[in-house]
Amino acid sequence: MSAKQVSIKSCINLEELEARAGQILPAASFDYYRGGACDESTLRENREAYRRIKLKPRMLRDVSKIKKNLTIFDCELSTPIMVAPMAFQMLAHKDGELATARASANRKTLMTVSTLSTCSLEEVREASDFDLWFQLYVYKDREITRDLVSRAEASGYKALVVTVDSPVLGKREKDIKNRFDLPANLTVKNLTLHNLEKFPDEGDDSGLSTYIASIYDRSLTYKDLSWIASLTNLPVLVKGVLRADDALQALDSGARGIVVSNHGGRQLDTAVSTIEALPEVVEAVNGRAPIIVDGGIRRGTDVLKAIAFGASAVYVGRPVLWGLALDGKEGVEMVLDLINEEFENAMTLAGASSLEEVTRDLIFQSRGEI
Ligand SMILES: Cc1cc2nc3c(=O)[nH]c(=O)nc-3n(C[C@H](O)[C@H](O)[C@H](O)COP(=O)(O)O)c2cc1C
Repeated sequence: MSAKQVSIKSCINLEELEARAGQILPAASFDYYRGGACDESTLRENREAYRRIKLKPRMLRDVSKIKKNLTIFDCELSTPIMVAPMAFQMLAHKDGELATARASANRKTLMTVSTLSTCSLEEVREASDFDLWFQLYVYKDREITRDLVSRAEASGYKALVVTVDSPVLGKREKDIKNRFDLPANLTVKNLTLHNLEKFPDEGDDSGLSTYIASIYDRSLTYKDLSWIASLTNLPVLVKGVLRADDALQALDSGARGIVVSNHGGRQLDTAVSTIEALPEVVEAVNGRAPIIVDGGIRRGTDVLKAIAFGASAVYVGRPVLWGLALDGKEGVEMVLDLINEEFENAMTLAGASSLEEVTRDLIFQSRGEI
């Protein structure tokens, strides 16, 4: 076993993996991956909010067998813990998105591939023998959007996740100071055909921020969501919802799933934590569509709480990048194994032997609460 593998194997949880990744990644890449917007209040709150929620476990419930598999949009997964869409994975490891896709496939869970991937969506599809979803950013040039949707559908992706919380980039101060840019050998590979694979070489901001400001469509509305849904037979999920009214309007505009997300605290700082936003969305959606939540999920108990509050599944973001940086495909597998083992442990100790038994009554409410 190499020294590197020994040092990763000694990590006992996802937080320790983050600290280890911080020691090996170039500072600008680590800052880009780890950071949030402005004061990083939302980034911190995503974690803190989970810590504040207390559990009320059930006893004597026969937890000798734990089932955590689920089917979502016809994809049969071994676990409700999925891999969030994240840009530029070759900054972490030379195999980038290909390694993440292989690891997710080996663990029978979904990876959602970002529009801003450093391998093309076709290359990632080719590398994996399991279902994949594609995350879509909407460009001003509608032909680009149309092209991305049809390529994702043609190459066999199973759903489209439209991210709606990024008309511009949040103010990520570390990236501005670092003038964050992609190294010369990396590109936004999906956009090569459209000559948009490189960040523009101008301005004092981060290269990514300038790129997004110049080509993402800020005029996007629910009407455009209906248009996107009309382009494809794939189910469309809307990512970045934090309010009941937005969730309902998204469903009325053709979306078939909701991702409650604040982009990992990278967009609007002081936006509500996602686990605190979730109950109002669950109540409004009222079983009409699956709801996924992400942001700050680092422990098996976080997954348990998200599902108890009504999420069908969760996305894990940054920890996947730490695993990827530390040991490529094996590192991502280790991350997925760690959090899945913790989740199983939490289900067992809470007296829930299936996802159906992970219900709201597992959440402790103090007597003062309504
Ligand atoms: C480095 C990085 C890149 C990201 N890139 C994208 C992206 O391209 N598209 C997108 O919809 N979300 C993107 N996200 C947001 C994630 O999908 C997810 O919402 C968030 O990371 C979840 O929070 P967590 O990292 O605390 O688990 C990115 C997040 C990070 C950390």
